[in-house]
Amino acid sequence: MLQVRQLTKRFGGLVAVDAVDFDVAQGEIFGLIGPNGAGKTTLFSLVAGALPPDAGEILFEGRSLAGMGSAGICGRGLARTFQIPQTFASMTVLESIMAGAMLHHRRIDAARAAASAVAQRVGLGRRLDVPTPALTTAEKKRLEVGRALATQPRMLLLDEVLAGLNSSEVGAMLELIRTLRGEGMTVLFVEHNMEAVMGICDRLVVMDTGRKIADGPPQEVMRDAAVVRAYLGDAATEVQHA
Ligand SMILES: Nc1ncnc2c1ncn2[C@@H]1O[C@H](COP(=O)(O)OP(=O)(O)O)[C@@H](O)[C@H]1O
Ligand SMILES: [Mg+2]
Repeated sequence: MLQVRQLTKRFGGLVAVDAVDFDVAQGEIFGLIGPNGAGKTTLFSLVAGALPPDAGEILFEGRSLAGMGSAGICGRGLARTFQIPQTFASMTVLESIMAGAMLHHRRIDAARAAASAVAQRVGLGRRLDVPTPALTTAEKKRLEVGRALATQPRMLLLDEVLAGLNSSEVGAMLELIRTLRGEGMTVLFVEHNMEAVMGICDRLVVMDTGRKIADGPPQEVMRDAAVVRAYLGDAATEVQHA
């Protein structure tokens, strides 16, 4: 469904994403993990059209996404969330989801009905009139998923939707993602938290300093010596800085 070929992004002398290749199949929950600075968010932004690549290619359902930009890519059926929840102070939950629903619904009442249905799905059905800044972190994450879902995507790109959630909130978010997949959604899931993705992903790519260091089913990837080294190195650095 999604094919990434030799994808490369440089920031000055730094190669943030270095000739990365992977394929996501239809109906898969696919994880993209790696320590801080690995290039996950940059790769995610390339796929979502928020950044132009320096080299390489991204194909969605067999067609190149080159030069499409984020709105065009969303219109093709590939919707993203944001790692830092993008909420507009003046908007309620319903209005915020309606902004996504307007992609396919020209009439405001149709967009409102669609957004209301999406809000129910993501567990915000009782919070429709709440201004988005008043939401909890977990609710903001659900709102982001709702906004993406409202654009009626065939594939969802989720950037760290588990960050800042407690364990029961993580469980509920994973449940929602499984439910969506059960309905045919394809999911590309970017996470810093390796343990949380182990149970849910069908396959993973592991990145470190811009390069893909492993890919495959989670159990297989976690036995890879380069992956263990990348994560232990990261943990050691965090301890040093603590
Ligand atoms: N806009 C940018 N300008 C310069 N350097 C950047 C920019 N975005 C990311 N980087 C650098 O690229 C590398 C990868 O960052 P990022 O994709 O955010 O990694 P991750 O999401 O895996 O933590 C890091 O070294 C980061 O400092
Ligand atoms: Mg990141």
